[in-house]
Amino acid sequence: MDKFVIRGGNPLLGTVRISGAKNAALPAMAAALLTEEPVILENIPQVRDIETTRKLLAAMGGEVELGYGRAQHRSTICCRDLTSPEASYELVKTMRASTLVLGPLLARCGRARVSLPGGCAIGARPIDLHIKGLERLGANINQEHGYVEASAKRLKGAEIVFEKITVTGTEDLLMAATLADGETLLQNCAREPEVVDLADLLNKMGAKIEGAGTTTIHVTGVEKLRGAKHRIIPDRIEAATFIIAGALTDGDLNVCGCDPNHLGALLEKLQDVGIKTKHTSDAVRVEGNQNLKAADVITEEYPGFPTDLQAQYMALATQAEGTSIITENIFENRFMHALEMGRMGAHIKIEGHRAVVRGRTLLSGAAVLASDLRASASLVLAALVAEGETIIDRVYHIDRGYENIEEKLRGVGAQIRRIGEILPKKK
Ligand code: UD1
Repeated sequence: MDKFVIRGGNPLLGTVRISGAKNAALPAMAAALLTEEPVILENIPQVRDIETTRKLLAAMGGEVELGYGRAQHRSTICCRDLTSPEASYELVKTMRASTLVLGPLLARCGRARVSLPGGCAIGARPIDLHIKGLERLGANINQEHGYVEASAKRLKGAEIVFEKITVTGTEDLLMAATLADGETLLQNCAREPEVVDLADLLNKMGAKIEGAGTTTIHVTGVEKLRGAKHRIIPDRIEAATFIIAGALTDGDLNVCGCDPNHLGALLEKLQDVGIKTKHTSDAVRVEGNQNLKAADVITEEYPGFPTDLQAQYMALATQAEGTSIITENIFENRFMHALEMGRMGAHIKIEGHRAVVRGRTLLSGAAVLASDLRASASLVLAALVAEGETIIDRVYHIDRGYENIEEKLRGVGAQIRRIGEILPKKK
């Protein structure tokens, strides 16, 4: 397993370019299941979850071309014949977002067999709301041997009120409703930019969707969808991670190729912390300083402060003067990084859904373990300001969602390298 070796202390200076949003690219790839024609997606990030989705679609009979570099991160997906509408446990267990294929498969093929995701490092992640929604659209659903087996001759439009706001649940139902017979009204929807991006793609494919980005989405079902070409939005979580890195290291960083409109909650919070940012239409410039002030954070659905930035914010809070209370409202067990930061000298007390961070503490390099995608990013941030060398193990988590993070960080002055596992010599 690869590790990162990071020597802290360097301010991040210069320009870093943000990749396409993983969380927008995954549903967009699943949307290609809805049509026989090719769907061309640009600005696909080169991360492991995308490769997992490629395997998932290929196993069903889809043809997926993925080109990076000169091919400009483009993917052409053609799902002319779907021979096996199934998502196996092997794939779902490495990436929960695999459940995004449930709605599109059911709508297009009239049946789907998708493994149930289990618990994960950040807590239980049920898909009951996806299932209830699809049942409202007329699907027959059984759960057997760890799989969801769903069937429907043709889905029928309905009114669905999500009991709880769910991002991939909204996306799954949105895709299913595009090919359902009649009108669907989705209420209490997620308003994340990734939902809007998916609706934009689906509308280009011939769907009739109104209201994406608000709590109520209206879909008029159509007979068929066609191919389309679409550019994925920039990754707001990657952009935010780099903005925090610039602030934390007392750097001067230009984070370009992002959409500052998607970063409102973070930029506001940084003001409270005492960090100055300036932005243009597609870049944020952040200047760090040595006088950070503690500020509390509560994670919420968009446009609130994202749970996917909670861990990175915690790294910043360790360097702010005073006590910051970080409340995690979305997932039940998302503080694993706090223990690892504790090993680096941070003062963090966990009280149920709240983490109490007492700053400012001098962090010192240590051997730490990455437990999930965003936790890994937070440990990288902590390591960038720690004294001495930090070794982060299990960075495969970070490879799921950050494109070339070590090259991007090195490009702006960080001392970071990747090492592979050294195997014992054969006798
Ligand atoms: C998506 C993001 C993830 C982010 C999360 C919250 C993708 C691929 N992933 O995950 O990065 O951290 O949104 O912003 O876009 N829930 C249920 N039943 C369900 C579905 C969800 O109880 O059927 C609960 C979850 O356990 C959680 C909350 O609802 O407590 C929100 O989860 P959800 O928005 O569904 O997260 P994901 O879509 O899996």
